[in-house]
Amino acid sequence: MRVDGKSHRTIGFDAAQQCVRIIDQTRLPHHFETLALTTLDQACHAITCMQVRGAPLIGVTAAYGVYLALREDRHSLEAICARLLATRPTAVNLRWALERVASELECTPRSERAGAALAIAQRMADEDTEACSAIGDHGCALLEQAWQAKRAQNPDAQCLNILTHCNAGWLATVDWGTALAPIYKAHAKGIPVHIWVDETRPRNQGAFLTAWELQQEGIAHTVIVDNAGGHLMQHGDVDLCIVGSDRTTANGDVCNKIGTYLKALAAFDNDVPFYVALPVSTIDFTLADGVREIPIEQRHGEEVSHMQGLNAQGELTRVQVMTSHSAVNNFGFDVTPARLVSALITERGVYQASRESLQELATAIGHS
Ligand code: MRU
Repeated sequence: MRVDGKSHRTIGFDAAQQCVRIIDQTRLPHHFETLALTTLDQACHAITCMQVRGAPLIGVTAAYGVYLALREDRHSLEAICARLLATRPTAVNLRWALERVASELECTPRSERAGAALAIAQRMADEDTEACSAIGDHGCALLEQAWQAKRAQNPDAQCLNILTHCNAGWLATVDWGTALAPIYKAHAKGIPVHIWVDETRPRNQGAFLTAWELQQEGIAHTVIVDNAGGHLMQHGDVDLCIVGSDRTTANGDVCNKIGTYLKALAAFDNDVPFYVALPVSTIDFTLADGVREIPIEQRHGEEVSHMQGLNAQGELTRVQVMTSHSAVNNFGFDVTPARLVSALITERGVYQASRESLQELATAIGHS
């Protein structure tokens, strides 16, 4: 997608500098800066401290991390994968990517493994882009139907109001995004969309990243506090919700950024469709019950007690927003049960959030 009118991806191999280049997402929206990763340590740090984040991008970064580690020639493949797997627990794309790289490298002679790992990482980045673009096409068809239905009911309707949570845009993937891909495609087709962007405390991925992406693409949007969605839905100001997923179970339970569940409850109570957009790599077919089985990341309390922003001098600064005397807790994700999900938008088409429907998908992709 575009930054100041120029196309970018979130990650790629920089042949001139022989490094993996990422966008440092901890500096957005105020500073657009790229970073060079040259070692396994740097790749792990980038994932852990969220210079890269979002389930699909975490997976692709891990694949590039394997390449960087093999290039250093200091680590066994098993140790490399174990180290990368420990960086963040919830997004299953990390495990999916590492298992795929490890199995493809198994039969490769040691001397050729680094080159082969780079080729696999690049292929995964391209495939992620294609998958997200296809999610965009399938999701766009739903948005078009929703817009036509709204216009049929009310010829004076100005736009389709869509609520999203966290950042499931191109910054969370290699390009296009998951939840935002249908929105980008709908906008390009001339469907008038307006996006309610949940700020998404504590790290503000909505206010910092989603709003910035939408602004770069010229899409109408409004940032709201996390608790505003229910109120807007009660007043008919949300036509549908679309969010991403970090892990979806074989039953269709969806784990996503903390607060997603409350939005789904409010949507259910107000008959607002609640869609989840995800690549197939985000489905964990080994799990059934998301609430009981998905590991929920707990992050540092300082993400709650402190906030980052610009000071009066225009410098990026961190301030403490509460006293140090209260305990804080920082669960990164929650689980939305399948019964609250209207449909799953994948690169293979739109599926119901149910065991039967996802079994059909598993069969279609040859997953045993
Ligand atoms: O903690 P983050 O920023 O990595 O969480 C990201 C999300 O929860 C996204 O909604 C999810 O990864 C889907 S991204 C396409």
